[in-house]
Amino acid sequence: ADDARARAAQMESLDDLEALLRGFEGCGLRFTAKNLVFADGNPQARVMFVGEAPGADEDRIGKPFMGRSGQLLDRMMAAIGLDRTGAYIANIVPWRPPGNRNPTPQEVAICRPFIERQIELANPELLVCLGAPATQTLTGTKDGILKARGRFYPYRLSDGREIKALATLHPAYLLRQPVQKRLAWRDFRMLKAALDAGR
Ligand code: URA
Repeated sequence: ADDARARAAQMESLDDLEALLRGFEGCGLRFTAKNLVFADGNPQARVMFVGEAPGADEDRIGKPFMGRSGQLLDRMMAAIGLDRTGAYIANIVPWRPPGNRNPTPQEVAICRPFIERQIELANPELLVCLGAPATQTLTGTKDGILKARGRFYPYRLSDGREIKALATLHPAYLLRQPVQKRLAWRDFRMLKAALDAGR
């Protein structure tokens, strides 16, 4: 992971970081995945969403949030006036874990320097952590997502600047537990208020 961090830090653009990941062999997931799933949306956007890991649709297409979770995410974004031209989207882990199992803590640790550098290079005003793995990885909280959600956490960039990271529920969870959508809706209203306030 130290090697990954040192190499990620040398990348001065998102294109360079993507190329580094394309050639990176330090994470076993890349050998079972079909494609690198680096990002979708607009890297100039004010808000960046970070999910967990690609699923089958994302692995086939090579972009995050392309399947049913992605369709729900698009609807949630649309509810606050966002689409993929106004948001940048990535995952904690850029390769699909076999059979959609959860990424292991070791896989997350290996990939973490890359998503951290990706956040820095995209330089959003606001981060949105979708679900527990993104929230725990990026904010350091050990709380479960139902406790952690609905709050802004400080997220420190390597140059010392702090941005805000909002924790919310993952769309895949909301597909299984639609009754919880009202909680996500509260969170998205907080996101909208923060975007409106920062304009
Ligand atoms: N779930 C995620 O966390 N990320 C994706 O890209 C798709 C589904």
